[in-house]
Amino acid sequence: MNLASLRKEYTLGGLTEEKCDVSPFKQFSLWFSEARQAGIEEPNAMTLATVSPEGMPSARILLLKHFDEQGFVFFTNYKSHKGNDLEHNPKASLLFFWHELQRQVRIQGFVHKITREQSAEYFFSRPLESRIGAWASEQSTVIESRELLEKNYARLKNEFGEEIPLPDFWGGYCLNPIYFEFWQGRESRLHDRITYSKENNEWSRKRISP
Ligand SMILES: Cc1cc2nc3c(=O)[nH]c(=O)nc-3n(C[C@H](O)[C@H](O)[C@H](O)COP(=O)(O)O)c2cc1C
Repeated sequence: MNLASLRKEYTLGGLTEEKCDVSPFKQFSLWFSEARQAGIEEPNAMTLATVSPEGMPSARILLLKHFDEQGFVFFTNYKSHKGNDLEHNPKASLLFFWHELQRQVRIQGFVHKITREQSAEYFFSRPLESRIGAWASEQSTVIESRELLEKNYARLKNEFGEEIPLPDFWGGYCLNPIYFEFWQGRESRLHDRITYSKENNEWSRKRISP
């Protein structure tokens, strides 16, 4: 397989300083709407990168469930690998790649747990099966077999019936950004990169070299 010959020219458009909103949140919102309009499946799928207490980075896909000027919210198991990383090091990075639009957005910031009430609101909006699934999985720990996982699920389904409580080990995190980068692919690898950094509570916008 010759991977070296796989390449593509990016020609869909450009990103100028004038086109960028002064607020990175509004800019994100605009690009997010455009990703939805373009018919991208799961435009809210994003990579979350965290760093372990030993300094080892790790990345995985999560679904963004809410965003506003307070930050970017996702839900997971607090005792998972990422949960452990975030407990020791609340600095994290999010990455959106919208291939069909030749765009990526990088975000860095500080993560905190949202309130139990906020987590409950989302948890109880999930289908019954997903709520049981949250209980059935000790996320990121070794499990003997697939069979055991399914047995756990069936047992919990039977035990709980229709009333599935919010597990204390499950909930939301919010990443409060200090840095954004909006990347638009261009011809000849001369891509557009517009960044926003938070300095003294103000967002400062700069173009960086591709
Ligand atoms: C499209 C997609 C969406 C996902 N969404 C979530 C999510 O919202 N929350 C979650 O905990 N895991 C989600 N996962 C699974 C994670 O990628 C990961 O396997 C899991 O959270 C365990 O990660 P960790 O061991 O690094 O903690 C998703 C995976 C994919 C491919």
